[in-house]
Amino acid sequence: MWLWLWWSTSTHVQAADDSLKPGDTLNFSSPQLYSQSGKYFLHFYSIADEASIDTYMAIYSAYDNSIVWKGNREQSVDQTDAVLSLNFSGVLKIESHFLEKPIILYSPPQPINNTMATLLDTGNFVLQQLHPNGTKTLLWQSFDYPTDTLLPTMKLGVNHKTGHHWLLVSQLTQMHATPGVFSLEWEPTGQEMIIRRRGKVCWRSGKFRNNRFENIPEDAQRVLKYSIVSNEDEDSFSFISKNENHTRWWFLSDTGQLSHNQGYVVRADLCYGYNNDGGCQRWQDIPKCRNPGDVFTKKMLYPDYEYVTYDKNENISHSDCEASCWSNCYCNGFKEFTDGTGCIFYHWNSSDNNTIDGTVSGVDFYILENTRKITPHHRGRSTANFLVLFSID
Ligand SMILES: *[C@@H]1O[C@H](CO)[C@@H](O)[C@H](O)[C@H]1NC(C)=O
Ligand SMILES: *[C@@H]1O[C@H](CO)[C@@H](O)[C@H](O)[C@H]1NC(C)=O
Ligand SMILES: *[C@@H]1O[C@H](CO)[C@@H](O)[C@H](O)[C@H]1NC(C)=O
Ligand SMILES: *[C@@H]1O[C@H](CO)[C@@H](O)[C@H](O)[C@H]1NC(C)=O
Ligand SMILES: *[C@@H]1O[C@H](CO)[C@@H](O)[C@H](O)[C@H]1NC(C)=O
Ligand SMILES: *[C@@H]1O[C@H](CO)[C@@H](O)[C@H](O)[C@H]1NC(C)=O
Ligand SMILES: *[C@@H]1O[C@H](CO)[C@@H](O)[C@H](O)[C@H]1NC(C)=O
Ligand SMILES: *[C@@H]1O[C@H](CO)[C@@H](O)[C@H](O)[C@H]1NC(C)=O
Repeated sequence: MWLWLWWSTSTHVQAADDSLKPGDTLNFSSPQLYSQSGKYFLHFYSIADEASIDTYMAIYSAYDNSIVWKGNREQSVDQTDAVLSLNFSGVLKIESHFLEKPIILYSPPQPINNTMATLLDTGNFVLQQLHPNGTKTLLWQSFDYPTDTLLPTMKLGVNHKTGHHWLLVSQLTQMHATPGVFSLEWEPTGQEMIIRRRGKVCWRSGKFRNNRFENIPEDAQRVLKYSIVSNEDEDSFSFISKNENHTRWWFLSDTGQLSHNQGYVVRADLCYGYNNDGGCQRWQDIPKCRNPGDVFTKKMLYPDYEYVTYDKNENISHSDCEASCWSNCYCNGFKEFTDGTGCIFYHWNSSDNNTIDGTVSGVDFYILENTRKITPHHRGRSTANFLVLFSID
């Protein structure tokens, strides 16, 4: 019985490319591991700037090749020697000479060799123990460790049996996968979703009523079916899409925008802390020098500043720069350094005359504009939501 099962399992693994069996490895040049129907695939990818190349083990959606999960976001590895492996002790790990010790995704209490790691058609990468009687035990799953993307059936909330929390945490910058500034969480007591910025709640979805959240645009919710579970085992939130072609994921960006594949779900980057529009939370008064409706807008112009100040902290990014510029009346605009960390603040000596020389082709930076004066950029629904959110007062 056991021998037959082992043999048939091995054959299956070799025939289909959706699994790793004990002894299998996957490196940067290996063929991708595809889920059975090809919806998702797993492989190593690299991202480079002038200073470094970072390599991550990632799960992609084959729909548009976007990354939906990363296995080593806290620590990048070396492209030339990074290896994902499942060994004969049942340990699933990523190794590279960059690392002092391997990144252990799962290690069983006792060595076991009847395991298999499979990329499922849900995008969940699961490690299972295969018992001689034909049953399987789930040992580990990527869905328990969300990064910045919520896939259908992936949970937010808490597992009461293990105390484990499921939440999304944005990257520090587009380039740096390290956990950043924003998190999306499920709050069981209020039955609502929240977004925190550096731990402080900056947005609330509003209570779940009639299969809808008050502070999420109808466009973003229409095709979703939510599943809210509250029992002694867990308190969780998840969704599925009623139309396969619509919402394939929610993605929490480094700047605090929660989007689905066709527009925005929430723009927490527009919560400046002084009003309650669209679910934004109040945590501070509006600075004397700012007006309701002021938002930082990206411009590609030559900033005709009078002086510049810097914050070179590598652990801060866009939204930190935005928050400090907002509350500093001497700050008129900002940008990050080229890798997306740190801040460059622009100042004009007379704060009411933000002169921009539009005749010179310039650089991307952010300057305050009043939304009530902005002509909408034609970016479809997303912009419309953003205007609705702030045209209330
Ligand atoms: C990477 O894996 C492939 C098989 O998938 C193997 O042929 C190759 O030698 C490996 N490369 C390195 C550098 O280990
Ligand atoms: C599996 O990997 C773990 C962790 O690196 C190691 O301690 C163990 O000896 C390995 N088992 C085998 C059979 O190589
Ligand atoms: C797997 O473990 C079993 C029981 O511990 C052992 O008899 C068998 O030889 C092992 N197989 C391999 C391929 O290591
Ligand atoms: C199958 O085997 C496992 C491990 O021995 C055991 O925990 C499980 O209860 C068994 N299931 C059935 C249906 O026999
Ligand atoms: C999804 O898109 C495909 C290809 O465009 C189409 O054939 C299919 O009918 C669509 N499904 C739904 C439910 O709209
Ligand atoms: C950034 O964070 C790292 C890790 O937490 C810490 O070691 C380092 O001192 C921080 N750097 C700055 C400039 O705060
Ligand atoms: C603006 O203020 C800064 C800081 O006080 C000063 O160094 C600079 O010379 C001033 N520039 C102009 C054009 O007045
Ligand atoms: C703002 O600066 C421009 C260019 O220096 C100048 O022409 C204009 O009069 C200034 N406006 C005010 C209100 O100071």
